[in-house]
Amino acid sequence: MTKLNWGMIGGGEGSQIGPAHRLGALADGRFALAAGALDHRPEEGRAYAQRLGIAEDRAYGDWTEMLAGEKGRDDRIDLVTVATPNATHFEITKAFLEAGFNVLCEKPMTLTVEEGEEIVRVARKAGRICAVNYCYSAYPMVRQARAMVRAGELGRVRLVVTNFSHGHHGDAGDADNPRVRWRYDPKMAGVSGQFADCGIHALHMASFVCDDEVERLSADFASTIPSRELEDDAMVNFRLAGGTVGRLWTSSVAIGRQHGFDIQIFGETGGLRWMSEQPNQLLYTPVGGRTQIIEKGEAGLHAEAQRLSRVSIAHPEGFPLAVANIYCDLADAISGEARDGLPDAEAGVRSMAAVHQAVASARDNGAWVDARPPMFR
Ligand code: NAI
Repeated sequence: MTKLNWGMIGGGEGSQIGPAHRLGALADGRFALAAGALDHRPEEGRAYAQRLGIAEDRAYGDWTEMLAGEKGRDDRIDLVTVATPNATHFEITKAFLEAGFNVLCEKPMTLTVEEGEEIVRVARKAGRICAVNYCYSAYPMVRQARAMVRAGELGRVRLVVTNFSHGHHGDAGDADNPRVRWRYDPKMAGVSGQFADCGIHALHMASFVCDDEVERLSADFASTIPSRELEDDAMVNFRLAGGTVGRLWTSSVAIGRQHGFDIQIFGETGGLRWMSEQPNQLLYTPVGGRTQIIEKGEAGLHAEAQRLSRVSIAHPEGFPLAVANIYCDLADAISGEARDGLPDAEAGVRSMAAVHQAVASARDNGAWVDARPPMFR
């Protein structure tokens, strides 16, 4: 199999998410790291790219140089990952799509709903893939949960409850640390803090597993550390289009919780629970029965969960392999094989609309609002 050429923007040395992308993209031999503009400091970015094995002429100082350089090549990159800070996602993603490149953009895809809708339109017009890195949706046991819901194994889903709550910004004495402070400063982070950062993963997960879209929501936002302008805790009630009741709690001051992402799905004939810190197990309870543990890699899983299980049963698979599943689906999609679970720009703009509408709801004492972007109303 010929490897696809992959490029990366952001994710430089010491970044949080860069290593997960490199481990994920390169895990299956489907991509080769061919180009990069990895750092906001051009010289550091060029040097690091070369240390990662990128040829000197494709170790770019910034993304505009990379766009110009890659456009003219016969062996141009087949996919570019945008893993820069949020405020830059829109212009970089748009420019690469318009030039005919496929893009994997980090979440949140944009800062505004209008920008998100523009990305959907540009991707459609260019006929290129624009995926968004909702990587938790690519864990095998999350795909198993979705397949069970789709197959009617829980009956109609009455209720979905999801949390993404950690305690890593719970120390008021550390609130002025520049690496923490920007997240709650609207000039740097946009209209929302914790909900836009972590809550949208949970909201996407609820919609993904239930295979239904978020239609309405009501939000309560709190800045529990008073110096913070944006929320560090949020409770969001929502409804999916098919009537499923949704509850979401997201927090960064929940001291004692580490990653803190889990989801429970309650149907008429059974319930499911998945926790990101034990990602290889899915708990299933049939109505009136005992709780069972469904293990990644066991016999009898749905095909989608089986396809994305890499190593044999009981060997842990973690976050970088969930990211690798996104890259596998992208490699298939680029090669013309449609992949149903790949989170796309439409999912990206739905999240942005939910963020902005949650902010409006919270300012209006939790009034129920339409959560959908105007283009999907
Ligand atoms: P970070 O601050 O740790 O790293 C950002 C990197 O981008 C740095 O290497 C920096 O030099 C580089 N950079 C900044 N501006 C640039 C530019 N204009 N051109 C090229 N490189 C540039 O940030 P982190 O935490 O890695 O986050 C990056 C993105 O990934 C954010 O949008 C964040 O929301 C997202 N993220 C997603 C996660 C997920 O689970 N999907 C988890 C963590 C972050």
